[in-house]
Amino acid sequence: MRLGILGSGSGSNMQAILDAIDAGHLDAEIALVLSDNPDAYILERAKNRAIATGLIDCRGFRSKFPDEAQAETAAALREAGVDLVCLAGFMRLVKQPLLDAFPGRILNIHPSLLPAFPGLEAWKQALEAGVPETGCTVHQVDAGMDTGPTILRAKVPVQPGDTPESLHARIQEQEHRLYPEAIRIFAAGIN
Ligand code: GRF
Repeated sequence: MRLGILGSGSGSNMQAILDAIDAGHLDAEIALVLSDNPDAYILERAKNRAIATGLIDCRGFRSKFPDEAQAETAAALREAGVDLVCLAGFMRLVKQPLLDAFPGRILNIHPSLLPAFPGLEAWKQALEAGVPETGCTVHQVDAGMDTGPTILRAKVPVQPGDTPESLHARIQEQEHRLYPEAIRIFAAGIN
C-alpha cells in the first residue's frame, strides 16, 4: 500500500504513521508528502527520511484549493503510484477533481467525535460547548467539510481546568494511535 500524505503543519500524525510502519504495525510505504505551506514542518520530517516531497501551489488563495491545484495534486499522487491519500492536518477543502481521481480512497483525521464539531479548532469548540468528552475521528473524505463515512473514533475526556492546548495535546495522543490503526483496517478492507 503506497500512501500519499497531504499536510499543512507540524506533521505529527505523519510521524505516527511512519513510526507504525517502522515498528512493523502497518504494512505500507509513504510514497509522497505534499504541502500547500512551504514552511510546514511536515516537509522537514519527510525530507529527513528521504521521502519525496512537493509543494501544492494555491496561487495566493488563503484557504481555497483551486481546481487547477487539485488536478496537479491528483497527477502528482498518481505519478508516485499512490493507492491511498491521507490528509494529516491539511487545511484546505478537497473537492473534485482530486476526489474523482481517488474515489473512496482519501482519509482524514479530525480532532472531535464527528459529526460533532466539524471545522476549525474542534477542541476549542468542544471546550466552549462544555461537553464532558470529545475525541478524534478518522473518516473517508467526501465533498463536505469533515463529513464522509467514519472508519474509527477514539474518545478523550475533557478534564477540569483544561485549556485549548491541554485538551488538544490529549486528543493528539489518541490521534497518533488511531490514524495508523484506521489505515491498517481500511487497507485490509480494500485488498
Ligand atoms: C490534528 O489535530 C488533526 O486532527 C487536524 O490537524 C492537526 C494536525 O496535526 N486535522 P499534525 O500536523 O499531524 O501534527
